[in-house]
Amino acid sequence: RPHRLDLTRTPNPHVSFGDGPHVCLGAHFARLQLRVLHEEALRLLPVCALAGPPRRLVSNFVNGIKSLPLEPAGP
Ligand code: HEM
Repeated sequence: RPHRLDLTRTPNPHVSFGDGPHVCLGAHFARLQLRVLHEEALRLLPVCALAGPPRRLVSNFVNGIKSLPLEPAGP
């Protein structure tokens, strides 16, 4: 179910960093960067909601989101 974001998925044998002899050399660095990004985002916006439409990256190589406007939400 590739279109469902499930952070608790287990096992999670995804191939976002490739596989085999050309597996991403920067995977550990990228995971560290993403950990820090999420820690900081959670610190600033512990509970958030969409504040506008997400903009997708236009690329025939990389799938991603260019911007994701968020705002504080909840009690
Ligand atoms: C979320 C961030 C990243 C993703 C999703 C990602 C994804 C990938 C994928 C899928 C491949 C395999 C491409 C193939 O099979 O031809 C790859 C290869 C590679 N990545 Fe990353 N990457 C990320 C971050 C980084 C970073 C931060 C670095 C360097 C600091 C890096 C360096 C490399 C290198 C050098 C290869 C080529 C390895 C080889 O061909 O032997 N990547 N990456």
